[in-house]
Amino acid sequence: MKILVINGPNLNLLGVREPELYGKRTYAELISYIEACAKDLGLQADCWQSNHEGDIVDKIQYAYGRYDAIIINAAAYTHTSVAILDALKAIGLPAAEVHLTDTSSREDFRRLSFTGLAREARFKGHGFERYREALEYFAEKQ
Ligand code: DQA
Repeated sequence: MKILVINGPNLNLLGVREPELYGKRTYAELISYIEACAKDLGLQADCWQSNHEGDIVDKIQYAYGRYDAIIINAAAYTHTSVAILDALKAIGLPAAEVHLTDTSSREDFRRLSFTGLAREARFKGHGFERYREALEYFAEKQ
């Protein structure tokens, strides 16, 4: 099973960015973690990151016919982007939403998730582990 893992804006700054919230581990460590989990589970996970909404829409469209599922942490675009929601709905691939933090216990504006409206599963809080859970979710569905 081929899974595209999309990470949105500012996640490339993990390790530097608000470490009290997001932890001290870097984006490179996140990618190694995801790739190791995927290997354990017998999945192929291709990781990709962008700070640009339109590029994320393009990448979601690119996934159509090339991947079996999407794991997405759209970061701040989670709470603002109808375009990303529409792209996920347009291609219709199974999607899991992931967040490193528990968005429901943070500022009110983080409670609304546009990307979440197109997801079939959501994993949030407790850092890197949630990516593993999202991968396990798809591994079990195989
Ligand atoms: C985040 C939560 C979002 O609210 C925030 O804008 C992010 C990261 C998370 O992984 O916890 O950039 O998606």
